[in-house]
Amino acid sequence: MSQPTASKPDPSPLTRPSRPEPVLAHEISLALPGLPDAMVGRRILHLSDVHIRRYRPRFRRMIARCARLRPDFVWMTGDYMTVHGDEQAALTVMADLLDVFEPPGGIFGCFGNHDSAAFKRLALKRLHRCHWLEHEAVTLPEYGITLMGTSTPCDVLACIMAARQAEQTVGSAADSYRILLGHEPGILITCAELGIEWTLAGHTHGGQLRFGLPFALHNSTDIPGSHSSGILRCRDSVCTISRGLGESYFDVRLLCPTHLPMYTLRRGPLPGSHCRRMDCVQWW
Ligand SMILES: [Fe+2]
Repeated sequence: MSQPTASKPDPSPLTRPSRPEPVLAHEISLALPGLPDAMVGRRILHLSDVHIRRYRPRFRRMIARCARLRPDFVWMTGDYMTVHGDEQAALTVMADLLDVFEPPGGIFGCFGNHDSAAFKRLALKRLHRCHWLEHEAVTLPEYGITLMGTSTPCDVLACIMAARQAEQTVGSAADSYRILLGHEPGILITCAELGIEWTLAGHTHGGQLRFGLPFALHNSTDIPGSHSSGILRCRDSVCTISRGLGESYFDVRLLCPTHLPMYTLRRGPLPGSHCRRMDCVQWW
């Protein structure tokens, strides 16, 4: 049996090649206060923004690399395709990708703004290895968490209502730790207001074209370019943003390599300080 990949800390993107090649998993030690005992030490693989348009050699290499990883959970935050017509290619690559994972905690995913209605329908039908959360929630009592997923447009309130319903069903409303697969990081302020402890997002591609650190000209959101990837904090809530595994429209990245975060969770104070606005407390 192959061993888990010993991933190195992500060096500065300034020293990385600008080729849009998938990196080895970026090992991130993430401190979260109030983390349930059963989640301490768990490893979460975060896949986002694959933007499949055809079966590129890069995706074969990505799948081979993913096959060597042994996460406890695989969580996905949307944009598996780019434009109408990509659906079949996206389904084929995603089916091959999902096949290599056997995480004991399961595979969960939300959808992004590039995922067409047709793709969502087909994914729900054919990509059975993933538990899709489209403005839905599921409680995992053995881990002490409630996991929610958005769709487009992001409706965090719908997710909270789904979470409450799911928690009431298993009688865990008082102590369930809420985590959102959210695609767009701009929802962090709403998540903080609604008591969601951790949001995972993509969407920005880390800016895709960067001219310094931290500086991205464009990230398809209303949040600043300096908040395009890393850990954002608002009050007692954090959002971790992946730079993503693909590109939309143009297969070009500059000083912004593709990204496959692997979070190892520990209990501890949040990074940065308490703030009412949205601060970037760690950049990658
Ligand atoms: Fe995207």
